[in-house]
Amino acid sequence: MAIITGAGSGIGKETALLFAREGAKVTISDINQETGNKVVGEIKGNGGEAIFVKADAASETDVQNLVNETVSAFGKLDVFFANAGINIEADVDQLELEKWQKVIDVNLTSTFLCNKCAVQQFKKQGTGGAIVNNGSIHSFVARKGLTAYASSKGGVKMLTQMVGTTYAKEKIWSNMVCPAYTNQTISSEIRGQLADLHPFGRLGEPIEVADAVLFMASDDASFITGTSLKVDGVYTAV
Ligand SMILES: NC(=O)c1ccc[n+]([C@@H]2O[C@H](COP(=O)([O-])OP(=O)(O)OC[C@H]3O[C@@H](n4cnc5c(N)ncnc54)[C@H](O)[C@@H]3O)[C@@H](O)[C@H]2O)c1
Repeated sequence: MAIITGAGSGIGKETALLFAREGAKVTISDINQETGNKVVGEIKGNGGEAIFVKADAASETDVQNLVNETVSAFGKLDVFFANAGINIEADVDQLELEKWQKVIDVNLTSTFLCNKCAVQQFKKQGTGGAIVNNGSIHSFVARKGLTAYASSKGGVKMLTQMVGTTYAKEKIWSNMVCPAYTNQTISSEIRGQLADLHPFGRLGEPIEVADAVLFMASDDASFITGTSLKVDGVYTAV
């Protein structure tokens, strides 16, 4: 029983399809109802089980409702992938407060709310559970223009460590995947340029991130919490 935010596209969608192939019942959540419903249709078409719940991941009411709807459909919650995220680029002296706030809300505050509501639900169930947050290589390294994005993802890293530390004895795990650039969102003009930043010489594929999320969410990661798994084609190691 898993929830994925931002599951209508990209890494979230690929992870939802993978989880469903592995037999999980999946709640597809997104602000975009149309793309979310398409993912549900694809999962059901392949014989899996999924529901769509529309939620703005930066709204506490929406995230609480998302957990409630999931539990009422599937009986309990085991895994929460806090994936929704956006980027607005500007150097610090050019960045309007409103845009800074939007990125912090969708990337960092949403991750806080997903962790908060998931922990509350795991405690209510009296079970452990696994949270995976979607960070970024920019939780660790800067790049010009990513003022708000990198700041928000740095915050996700520390939030992951906080939640991992706080609930370790209750078997509530919070970990983070940190992708480098993946293929789906990159325009062809800058694809080559970005690929050169990865010693692999190519961008990642969403499925390569999804595989890491699946591991972090599984019992195979039973002694791993509060940590980060970089899925980055060696971007940060050089
Ligand atoms: N793609 C990359 O290269 C890359 C690299 C590193 C990290 N990431 C992170 O991975 C995550 C997913 O990225 P992606 O590239 O797959 O994105 P994407 O743009 O393909 O998909 C993001 C989804 O989130 C949804 N969304 C946006 N705002 C939302 C909100 N407030 N509430 C709920 N849903 C919302 C969108 O509708 C969309 O379906 C993000 O957190 C991103 O920062 C992506």
